[in-house]
Amino acid sequence: MKKIIYLIPVFFAILSCGSNERVSREVFDEVNKSMKVTKVNEAEMIQAAMKWGNEISQEAQDALIGTLQEAIAEKGVTGAIEFCNVEALPILQEVSDKYNVEVRRASFDYRNPVDAPKEYEAGILDTYVYNMENNLESEPSVQKFENGDVLLYTKAIKIPGGLCLNCHGEPGKEIAQETLNKIDELYPEDKAKGHQIGDLRGMWSIRMTKKEVVKRME
Ligand code: HEC
Repeated sequence: MKKIIYLIPVFFAILSCGSNERVSREVFDEVNKSMKVTKVNEAEMIQAAMKWGNEISQEAQDALIGTLQEAIAEKGVTGAIEFCNVEALPILQEVSDKYNVEVRRASFDYRNPVDAPKEYEAGILDTYVYNMENNLESEPSVQKFENGDVLLYTKAIKIPGGLCLNCHGEPGKEIAQETLNKIDELYPEDKAKGHQIGDLRGMWSIRMTKKEVVKRME
């Protein structure tokens, strides 16, 4: 009993913190700002996120393929594996930083375990797998989550051509032995082999805050 009585003043002290004039002003401004954001037309915002996602994924893909082709020309396919191992993620990070978004590639058959789908990506990736298995087209998508404060743009990544099969195709046939050894050395849990042209390789996943999307609409 004595203990409880002793705790009461402490409890009130905690409650009263934050009720001063300056803090409530900040809260008021914050609410005001977020009300401005919610006034934006939803359909227009989704459309803006779709357009932006298309542009960013294209830019990221061009950056990756451009440097990949250069690396193959300079160091050969096996050398390029090492290059991808070191450079792929920093290239995506650079694009992420440029636009203040989070650009990733996610795949159930990942080579780099960092690309394993996150919880919020798995359901969408499942849909792309289903579409592929049933010969349905997969369109890019924008989904809202975290109370609508975050927008997730996704786009299926398919194997467009033979270049990819040098490192993602049939071992011993399309993937040369030397290349295979390098893949096994760097990625002991690799799941990204045995693909054919047209296969689903994964998806682009671009996480944007609603705030950033709205900023771009202004
Ligand atoms: C020189 C070998 C090489 C070629 C050619 C290549 N890749 Fe990869 N790919 C890799 C490596 C290595 C990684 C893992 C990169 C990392 O560690 O971040 C990877 C990762 C990926 C990922 C990320 C998911 C995962 O498995 O980790 C996708 C998607 C992908 N490649 C698609 C493609 C496509 C599409 C092509 C053809 C345009 C292609 N790759 C050509 C070596 C290659």
